[in-house]
Amino acid sequence: MKQKVLIVDDNRDMTRLLERLIGSTLHAETLAAGSAEEALRVLREHIVNCLLVDMKMPGMGGMELLRQVRKQDAPVPVIIMTAYGAIETAVEAMKEGAYDFITKPFEEERLLHTVRLALEHEDLRRKNTDLERRIRKKEKETFFVGESPRMQELIDTIRLVARADVTVLITGETGTGKELAARMIHNLSGRTGKPFVAVNCPAIPETILESELFGYRKGAFTGALTDREGLFQVAQGGTLLLDEIGDISSSLQAKLLRVLQERELKPLGDTATRRVDVRVIAATNRDLAGNVAAGLFRSDLYYRLNVVSVNTPPLRDIPEDIPLIAYHFLSLFCSELGLDRKRLTEEAIQFLVSRQWKGNARELQNEIKRAVIFSKSEMLSPSDFRANAEPVVARNAAPETDGLAYRDARREVLASFNIEYISNLLRRSQGNVSLAAQSAGMERQSLQHIMRKYGIASAAFRKDDKNEEEGDERG
Ligand SMILES: Nc1ncnc2c1ncn2[C@@H]1O[C@H](COP(=O)(O)OP(=O)(O)OP(=O)(O)O)[C@@H](O)[C@H]1O
Ligand SMILES: [Mg+2]
Repeated sequence: MKQKVLIVDDNRDMTRLLERLIGSTLHAETLAAGSAEEALRVLREHIVNCLLVDMKMPGMGGMELLRQVRKQDAPVPVIIMTAYGAIETAVEAMKEGAYDFITKPFEEERLLHTVRLALEHEDLRRKNTDLERRIRKKEKETFFVGESPRMQELIDTIRLVARADVTVLITGETGTGKELAARMIHNLSGRTGKPFVAVNCPAIPETILESELFGYRKGAFTGALTDREGLFQVAQGGTLLLDEIGDISSSLQAKLLRVLQERELKPLGDTATRRVDVRVIAATNRDLAGNVAAGLFRSDLYYRLNVVSVNTPPLRDIPEDIPLIAYHFLSLFCSELGLDRKRLTEEAIQFLVSRQWKGNARELQNEIKRAVIFSKSEMLSPSDFRANAEPVVARNAAPETDGLAYRDARREVLASFNIEYISNLLRRSQGNVSLAAQSAGMERQSLQHIMRKYGIASAAFRKDDKNEEEGDERG
């Protein structure tokens, strides 16, 4: 998009001359205003990248216009044009924040050069704000959202733990934000700005994991064609997240313990040791203490890692945070996909809160992303989301409820369920109501009441009248 230069001068010949000059030389569009008042109107309707303002105009002068422009949130550069010799005015304008000044009559080259610089300056400023906005978004992404006491406690713990430069063990079910917690600890620690390296231990074959972590020298083993830095070295000065640490072999457990104790390591095939200045954070969704008890994980390593522990809660423990987290994901995806901000209906929020989230925040994140992509409307309703992954026990002959009022639909479904369920019960008990009630875990009277309501007769299920002392239940 072309940048826009607004020329403000009460002299029409001058604005025309400047428009022609700038338009034909610089890659910019021009707008003209015959007074400061008109300029302010133009500024309300257009995004302007630079102003070229005559000092002396009837009505509001150039200096006042400059002050008005400087008061705006994102002040654009203003170049002041003064009469030859009026140097005091130029100085005053510079004090008021003018970008530069030009004295009339001007040399074309000098004027064009000044405007070009102002436009570049403005372009850079806009790009910086854009960058800042992106950085702020990144920061927003690496922060736990939630106002429940449990979530506030987690955030407080993370803040505290971040400041102490100790090893941390993060435990939590799948998708609860273990990696997020690790990143947050890193960002809030003195190591921020240094590398954060995450290793998903089970994703790397056992034989390679060791050389990945510690590095190797050329010729250390067949295939080691060059020296290779280990991830401990890559993370030097920063933080190394060992994700799913519960799965590593006992030989690697021993080597890791040594690095944590000695704070130094020796790459494979190397003779010299290297100092290691890395904060280690371990994460697991396993019961690591249980693994220790079962002899699968070294207790000494466990205690080294578990200097402090942080536990990320599953969504079912923080249902009150689900709306906030859902909105957080919603706004992230909408801005990521360049869409207008979508919203959730009240019903959708209730649906999301009541749904089971076995995959926790990650599953919620995927579900929101899917809804954002597939829904065309600005409001997301329950039908934009999928029901739980595990189906409700299928019942045959479900009644047709399409187009019915809620109360009628509900009555239909209840009747159909009751008739089917109780018929099956009585069929199994061969019409014995006491037995049927017992096997359904309900009082005999309650069962009789329901049978009456739906006109179910126990006699219909009896093979032989003599087996049953019950009378006809139809009431
Ligand atoms: N309370 C929260 N607020 C905002 N974002 C969250 C929250 N909890 C989790 N997330 C986000 O959900 C996603 C999944 O979290 P993360 O990958 O950290 O989970 P994990 O516990 O490491 O999962 P896994 O066990 O599958 O490795 C990430 O994008 C994370 O930023
Ligand atoms: Mg993870």
